[in-house]
Amino acid sequence: MWKFGERTHFIGELQDLPEGERVRIAGWVYRKSELGGVVFIRLRDSTGVVQVVVKEGEVGQDDLERARDAGIEASLVVEGRVRRDPRSPTGVELLASSIKMVGPSHDFPIKPDSGEEFLLDNRHLHLRTTKMRNALLIRREVMRAVEEWFITNGFVRVEGPTFVGAAVEGGATLFEVPYFNRKAYLTQSSQFYLEAAIFAFENVYTIQPSFRAEKSRTRRHLTEFWHAEAEMAWADLNGMMDVVESLLKYVSQKVVERAGHVLEALGRRFEPLEGDFPRITYDEALDIAKRKGASIEWGEDFGTEVERAISLEFDLPVFVTHYPKQAKAFYHKPDPERPEVVLCADLLAPEGIGEIVGGGQRIESEEELLRRIREEGLNPSDYKWYIDLRRYGSVPHSGFGLGIERTIRWIAGLPHIRDAIPFPRTPTRLYP
Ligand code: 4AD
Ligand code: MG
Repeated sequence: MWKFGERTHFIGELQDLPEGERVRIAGWVYRKSELGGVVFIRLRDSTGVVQVVVKEGEVGQDDLERARDAGIEASLVVEGRVRRDPRSPTGVELLASSIKMVGPSHDFPIKPDSGEEFLLDNRHLHLRTTKMRNALLIRREVMRAVEEWFITNGFVRVEGPTFVGAAVEGGATLFEVPYFNRKAYLTQSSQFYLEAAIFAFENVYTIQPSFRAEKSRTRRHLTEFWHAEAEMAWADLNGMMDVVESLLKYVSQKVVERAGHVLEALGRRFEPLEGDFPRITYDEALDIAKRKGASIEWGEDFGTEVERAISLEFDLPVFVTHYPKQAKAFYHKPDPERPEVVLCADLLAPEGIGEIVGGGQRIESEEELLRRIREEGLNPSDYKWYIDLRRYGSVPHSGFGLGIERTIRWIAGLPHIRDAIPFPRTPTRLYP
């Protein structure tokens, strides 16, 4: 790792050093206590925590005073000698010989008993606590593994724009923004742009934010979320599900391999996914939901509670396919054998988490696409270029979108989606 400033070592490197080694470390005061005139500072950097012992005789009087004055989260540079100490969790502590105060800190507001809203208002400070750091380290590994899977499987990354002219996923959740003397919207999905890109690269993906004006305040909705999307030329619905399954198995394996200790620290038991993901139809899922007491009619989309009930029936993520066409967006290809349902699949994560992926096969014919656009009461002129893609060598194709934060919430076992992103955006939260 890159080392900046005056430090000679990261705290995480101290445990490999011999007794008496002279080092300079830098970090933030995590805990502090004083006993018999000796100040004990637990100093934290990004690699770990070490106990620093500040004692008269070993340091000057000024240093001792500085240590006494250092508040929680004050930043310090400490010079000292490594002491092997079998009682310490890492086997070492540091006997200080000098203390430099870099950034004082007074009355750090985050306390063990701080309430949820207070922590959210102070997310800029909460970020440095163990709980948030661990959640974000899982996020890092999920993001990394998703990107890695696409790269190693030959997908080409193509980003869509953030300002767009029309809805992908229905007008109800569009964020409108002024765009000079016109209206623009924030993108809900890059799908249509990826569909354009398959004609250049065949298999494409992106990882970027999507925006939904979701008024529902739930544990699984953000107004701004990160969206990993892929689109594959020549792929049918089954091909698309094979991609999702392979991707998620890889992600689960890499997160456990690289951050198993972080999952453990979060109190999360999570194993790499093995075995085939079950694939059931909407009709079969509906039977399960009804058997478990849900009041839902054929044709309705599944809400949070119904998805929860279905996902609790399975130990692995489960694909639910062939939804009624009225429950899904206009671009889904109707099943030629049963035109009242579409060739789509949602992936429901286990443990009651519900949908983390939505996707399916797209309509490849201009005629059928126009029919569906009109049937939904939409204006074909809003989708001119999208329709145009069907006129120059159209091919069967499929794709999907995976919600990054929903995936992190599931893998890390977080109670709420907002802890899967550093600075969450919800209907009521625009600060910090
Ligand atoms: O199911 P959705 O709406 O599908 C699409 O947007 C497709 N156009 C994607 C595609 O085929 N390229 O969204 C895909 C996923 C959901 O399964 C969910 O994981 C996540 O995006 N998602 C959200 N995550 C957090 N907060 C929200 N408000 C979300 N809305 C969707
Ligand atoms: Mg969906």
